Amino acid sequence: MSDEERFRHALGEYATGVAVVTFLNHNGAAIGLTVNSFTSLSLQPPLILWCLDNLSEWYSQMKLGLAFAINVLASDQRDIAERFAEPHPDRFDGILTESGLADLPLVKNALATFECVVEEMHKGGDHLIIIGRVAQFQSGDGSPLIFQRGVYLE
Ligand SMILES: Cc1cc2nc3c(=O)[nH]c(=O)nc-3n(C[C@H](O)[C@H](O)[C@H](O)COP(=O)(O)O)c2cc1C
Repeated sequence: MSDEERFRHALGEYATGVAVVTFLNHNGAAIGLTVNSFTSLSLQPPLILWCLDNLSEWYSQMKLGLAFAINVLASDQRDIAERFAEPHPDRFDGILTESGLADLPLVKNALATFECVVEEMHKGGDHLIIIGRVAQFQSGDGSPLIFQRGVYLE
């Protein structure tokens, strides 16, 4: 195993939840991608963060003030996690959504949803750290989808 593979393997020991980040691109089209880098950052002010791979086609569209939503997936939403991590002509096809602030697409029946505005962006190695200020949120009951060692645990 190369050092990079050993590093990935060790990182994979840390179990995380799974979320879909949604936002509208500059043409107003809905964009979504699966992330497990979401984490809480601050209670006062209310801030969260996630990290975007600098190879992502959305890297250049991230800008201060952009609205986005974090949709925390429930244990029965594994198919949604897979959809938003794979190439697909229309990732939202057949996915139930509702409209949030500024028409943000929100994944229906997500365990929790945080509607945010990009407050800060920082380069971190091969990722961009995106800090969002939470404008509105909701949460419900249920169990989360978990990701560990490269697999989903429902
Ligand atoms: C469980 C899981 C977690 C992921 N977490 C991240 C992440 O935190 N940041 C990221 O940029 N990509 C992450 N990805 C990869 C993206 O979902 C995937 O590369 C992306 O959807 C590729 O398409 P796009 O960049 O064209 O949207 C993750 C994928 C999976 C399956």
